[in-house]
Amino acid sequence: MVGFFVFLCGISMTEKRFPTVSNIAGAGLGLRSSHYQHIFETKPDVPWFELLSDNYLGEGGLPIVRAEAIRDLYPITLHGVGMSLGSADALNTEYMARLKSLADRLEPAYISDHIAWVSIEGQYTHDLLPLPYTLEAQKNIIDKISKAQDILGRTLLVENPSSYLMFNCSEMSEEEFVNGVLEQTDCQLLLDVNNLYVSAQNHGFNAEKYLETLPKNRIKEIHLAGYEDKGKYLFDTHGYTVHDPVWKLYQKALSLFGSIPTLIEWDTDVPDFDVLLGESKKAQKILDEVT
Ligand SMILES: [Fe+2]
Repeated sequence: MVGFFVFLCGISMTEKRFPTVSNIAGAGLGLRSSHYQHIFETKPDVPWFELLSDNYLGEGGLPIVRAEAIRDLYPITLHGVGMSLGSADALNTEYMARLKSLADRLEPAYISDHIAWVSIEGQYTHDLLPLPYTLEAQKNIIDKISKAQDILGRTLLVENPSSYLMFNCSEMSEEEFVNGVLEQTDCQLLLDVNNLYVSAQNHGFNAEKYLETLPKNRIKEIHLAGYEDKGKYLFDTHGYTVHDPVWKLYQKALSLFGSIPTLIEWDTDVPDFDVLLGESKKAQKILDEVT
């Protein structure tokens, strides 16, 4: 694994080259295909939707028609897994061109991806894989984020990962790695509170102290989701309602960072829309209590 991370390039903290413009606020929902019909028929009271960009990268057809119809009704963001920002591979120019075309067409408030990797030498996995927290890997992802922003002409949001292993070669903690990325790029952070809780429990670090190290003005979105307790570890399935310790950590995050647009993610065993709506209302209630 370590051999993959043989890199690169000088880094300097850059000026803000692209404005971070947002028309989203409150507790939104991840758009899932099983809910299209319900949403179009009932136009539920949801402040915004997050679309999985990788589902809309085709040339046309029903997916993009639906995406545009949602965009006409609600503010949207685009969230993906395909940039493989942590990989030693160069950015996939075809993927990035399709993503830019999609963003130009939909004009999302944000585009986000992960502090992780999904591909090497052109071979893609279906999983977000963890990085060794080394200076070399950090320099690599900083360079990739900068190049991705140049291609998209937009500020990226990058999301902290959930993980189940750590590398012996890591030279720093996850929070040092993430903070270094934020210090040396002009991207913003998508803080996944569930991911943070899962990783903290799996690796035995203090999630609240991690939060306290993050720069307040760089957190533009929060994700919440439900994990599965596998006994020896927590598994980030996105298949449950948000668990109580994650709600508690969310409240801690809001006490530090203020009212941050929040998104409920649900990816496996997707329930009826009203279950998701109930979770977003719960998040909204907590947001409303933030002064
Ligand atoms: Fe997330």
